[in-house]
Order: sequence, then C-alpha cells, then structure tokens
Amino acid sequence: MKTGKKRVVVLSGAGISQESGLKTFRDMGGIWEEYDVTEVASPEAWRRHPEVVLRFYNERRRQLLEARPNDAHRAIARLEEWFDVEVITQNVDDLHEQAGSTRVLHLHGELRKARSTADPSLVYPLKGWELNMGDLCDRGSQLRPHIVWFGEPVPLMEEAIRRVAEARIMVVIGTSLSVYPAASLVGYAPPECPLFVIDPGEPATGERQVIRIRKKASEGCRDLLHLLEKYI
Ligand code: APR
Repeated sequence: MKTGKKRVVVLSGAGISQESGLKTFRDMGGIWEEYDVTEVASPEAWRRHPEVVLRFYNERRRQLLEARPNDAHRAIARLEEWFDVEVITQNVDDLHEQAGSTRVLHLHGELRKARSTADPSLVYPLKGWELNMGDLCDRGSQLRPHIVWFGEPVPLMEEAIRRVAEARIMVVIGTSLSVYPAASLVGYAPPECPLFVIDPGEPATGERQVIRIRKKASEGCRDLLHLLEKYI
C-alpha cells in the first residue's frame, strides 16, 4: 500500500538483539564458538541426531522467552511514523514484532514456529519453549524447527530482493554480512540509495559507499533517527 512515505529497508542481524541478552554468532563467545554449526543447524545434523538439534533450538527459544526488545528494536518500529518501513531480518527471534514493527520478513525462519517434515507449508506457532521428538503435525509427521538451516534454500530471498530494490534508504544493523545469500541484499539497493551501517565492528559491505555509525545498536539508532530527519 503506497503511503506517500519514503521506503526505508532495514536489514538486521544478531547484533540488534545482543543488547537484549541474546548471543550473536561470530563475536567472541558467540554461538558458533560454543556449537559446531554442522552438528545443530544443518539437514545432515537433523538426519543424524534430531534430538540434539531440537535441544539446541529449545535452549535458544527458552532464552528468547526471557528476552525483551531493546531501544534499537523500538527505534526501528518508531521509524514507521515517518517512513514506509520494511524490516528484513536474519534473526529468528520476534523482538522486532514485540517492539511494534508491522512488516518483518524473516529470511532465516522463526524460532517460535515449528514446521511439518512431511509438508513444509504446515507451520505451527509454538506456545512454550519446547519442541520434542514425538511432537507431530496434522499429518502425523515429526515437527522440526521452522528455521532455514545451512545448505537449505532461502524461500523468502526473492521477496527480500524485491523490497530492497525499491528502497529509498537502506539501513544495515548488527550483521557481519558473512552469510549468503542474505549478505548479497546490500547489492540490490538502488545506486542512489544511501546505505547506513550501524555496527561497532566492520561488516563486509564491499566497495559500496556507506554511512558508518560505529556504535552499538541502541545508541546507533538514536544517531540514525537524527540523520534520517532530512529525508522525512
Ligand atoms: N549492536 C550492533 N551490532 C552489534 C552488537 C551491538 N550491540 N554486538 C555485535 N554486533 C555486530 C557484530 O559486530 C557483527 O557485525 O553484529 C554482527 C553479528 O554478526 P554475526 O554474529 O555474524 O550475526 P549475523 O550477521 O546475524 O549472522 C548471520 O549467520 O549463523 C547464521 O543464520 C545465522 O542469521 C544468522 C546468520
């Protein structure tokens, strides 16, 4: 729906949820330091030891139930007052939605949903934090985490590209841009579209001209709101 407001596309990663107490993946002490990704987040791992995979996601879901949105999630939600905002997140938490963002596309799935192993179109919200062996879909097949594992296709990638291609302004926040195809989205922003990058680290933005806000997400978003005033 055209609102006359300028389209702002926000591409977020684990860093935006770090101040909510959720670990990132590749920082010091990150999730991939603690777990071997091929053992817990791949179709092979699911075939080999589904209960290990379920336990990995149950632990992250339990942590999510204790996490709350932070000022960065709230700032991105507030942007909707002035802009037509599309959030494209690599995160599987629902903190953007909890903060009030109304259009959130989860490229890598959603932790609080489960999916049938017989029919991927059968997706179910999870009430608590546990998904266990023996939890079955309506067709009697085992439920799996509604997560895009390494080596699996990213079903919403085409839709994400369409949204980025229409961006008037793009904001990249809290992602190392080290996982494809998600990281390639930056390249689909129109050439004249300013690209703001909020991250204390150095995401791989390639040779594209960017406006760097070298701060954590919450503080960086305060700067962003001031910088975006001239575009309203
Ligand atoms: N505020 C902003 N950025 C932060 C903060 C913070 N408080 N803390 C860390 N960061 C930054 C880091 O500097 C890094 O650039 O967040 C980024 C986190 O990068 P990753 O840990 O690689 O997380 P992400 O980019 O989301 O990973 C992408 O990899 O494992 C897969 O599917 C998983 O969606 C995930 C994908």
